[in-house]
Amino acid sequence: MCGIIAYTGGEDAAPVLFEGLKRLEYRGYDSAGIVTINDSGEFELKKQVGKVQDIHNELNLLDLSGSIGIAHTRWATHGGVTQKNAHPHVSNNSEIAVIHNGIVENYKELKALLVSKGFHFESETDTEVIPNLVEYWMDSKHLNFIDATMKTLQSLEGNFAVVLIDRDTRTIIGAKNGSPLVLGVGERKKNELFLASDIPAFLERTKNVVYLYDGDMVVFETDPSSKKRSYQIFDFRGRTERPIIRPIQSVSWNLSHATKGDFDHFMLKEIAEQVETIQKAAAQDPEHIQNITQSIRNAKGVFLVASGSSYHACLSAGYLFAKLASFHINTVIASEFSQYESFLKPETLVIAVSQSGETIDVLDAVKTAKEKGCQIVSIVNVVGSSLTQISHKTLLLNSGPEISVLSTKTYTAQLAVLSLLAYSLAGRYEEGVQKLKFLWNIVYNLTAATTRNKIKELATRLATHDHIFVLGRGPLYATALEAALKIKEVSYIHAEAFAGGELKHGPIAMVKKGTPCIIFVSRDTVKTILSNAMEVKSRGGYIIGIGPEPIESFDFFIKVPESNSLNPICDIIPIQILAYQLALILGHDPDKPRNLAKSVTVR
Ligand code: F6R
Repeated sequence: MCGIIAYTGGEDAAPVLFEGLKRLEYRGYDSAGIVTINDSGEFELKKQVGKVQDIHNELNLLDLSGSIGIAHTRWATHGGVTQKNAHPHVSNNSEIAVIHNGIVENYKELKALLVSKGFHFESETDTEVIPNLVEYWMDSKHLNFIDATMKTLQSLEGNFAVVLIDRDTRTIIGAKNGSPLVLGVGERKKNELFLASDIPAFLERTKNVVYLYDGDMVVFETDPSSKKRSYQIFDFRGRTERPIIRPIQSVSWNLSHATKGDFDHFMLKEIAEQVETIQKAAAQDPEHIQNITQSIRNAKGVFLVASGSSYHACLSAGYLFAKLASFHINTVIASEFSQYESFLKPETLVIAVSQSGETIDVLDAVKTAKEKGCQIVSIVNVVGSSLTQISHKTLLLNSGPEISVLSTKTYTAQLAVLSLLAYSLAGRYEEGVQKLKFLWNIVYNLTAATTRNKIKELATRLATHDHIFVLGRGPLYATALEAALKIKEVSYIHAEAFAGGELKHGPIAMVKKGTPCIIFVSRDTVKTILSNAMEVKSRGGYIIGIGPEPIESFDFFIKVPESNSLNPICDIIPIQILAYQLALILGHDPDKPRNLAKSVTVR
């Protein structure tokens, strides 16, 4: 969803902001814009609908002058995809510009108030109330920019990350409430500061990061005589008047994590990285795992909560907890979690799983659970994300940044961590660790060029179809759901998953000659799932089998060696590759599927 990057330093801001915008593209967006303050103290602003590079080709974003500025990629929520609705938005008196991620839920009331005071609005966005409210407070109550911004932030309802820039004082203010915002502190010599929705936006220039918390308002100021730039963090809810001290942390990611390297797309790079990322996810601190295992044992009722692919990882884990540890876990889609509120007690444990740690549905679920006194464990990839900040304990996926919109390497990393927990709960932690290590070779072969080429053949055959069905049983039913999601997201072909046994309860009506049907087979489910395969085959369906052995009824076979409880980790990989190949054949950009955003920060 919307991406934010802000810069103040000794260099021209436009190239820094332009690069930052490009690194934010993966979040999903429909328009973009930059505003700088030039040496004469004027705003220079350009914004347009389209891709960052296309906007630059049309408007030349690099000729904006000045060494301070803010920039934005917009994913429309309020108001259509138009130039006027693109950010930055400027106050009526042209003194304050704003970029914003999230929703101002009470913007109608705020807008009505401002209109009654004579303000006019250029756009249909909720965002435009923000700079005008600041102007209103500065003028009507003679507040300075910082105090007026604080008052404005206090009046906003909803989740947001916002960055404001004041033309007169050349001050930048960023604030966070439920949406992501991190502070980057440049090398001492360079004396530069950044704000961004996520670290890759400024990773090329600094690895020093301050993770901001909800309620934080960070102010960048420049000393007029020494030109030294400094920042201070305040609580905009006014709970403490003194500045808040937050540690500067050095991130272990490097630029190669945030660039495509030799790969054509991030999606393919991230699929290939699974050779390492599954192992990194499995390399958890044993004591921490034991500690969380104990919390699971002690709890009276455990919920696994997540959205999208992360939910599928939880669904898969539910089977594993039952099979390995005879332990029942309630797996719930995050946006449905409130329906279970009456079961939440202080003894309940909620395990929230999220790559980004910023998914609003997951954050809402966790907040509900916390209000009921539940303990929260999170499994997250992004260090310092909102979810880690509100959890009692966190397990990190250690996958490095996932840039492609589709989750691939973090899905298998989630499965690896959840599998470790299941093994640990069964008192077989070491066995789990060894089994995960053993996957290395399988994943290596699955991501190698030979397998990729074979799957390309399959993609060529499937690309002309309108529907693809996917079947699995037990944990591989969750894999089927994830497979269908991957195919849909990036190829836009309708793909639908069923538990094998459900086929005859309705879906089989859709099978006709040539209907492609992907079937996940494992040693445990082979008998039953093959009878489902035969049901499809006898109606003319085209069967693609994924599993340890080829079977007569398969028209196409992809071998994935049996790894028992860990089958879901390996079995999804051929379908990730298939989805990627389908996208290429159909002329879609696999890294930027239409309408999708990397982290979903609105409800
Ligand atoms: C699918 C995908 C989404 C996410 C979902 C949750 O490829 O990426 O379905 O899994 O939006 O995101 P996180 O895990 O960040 O909470």
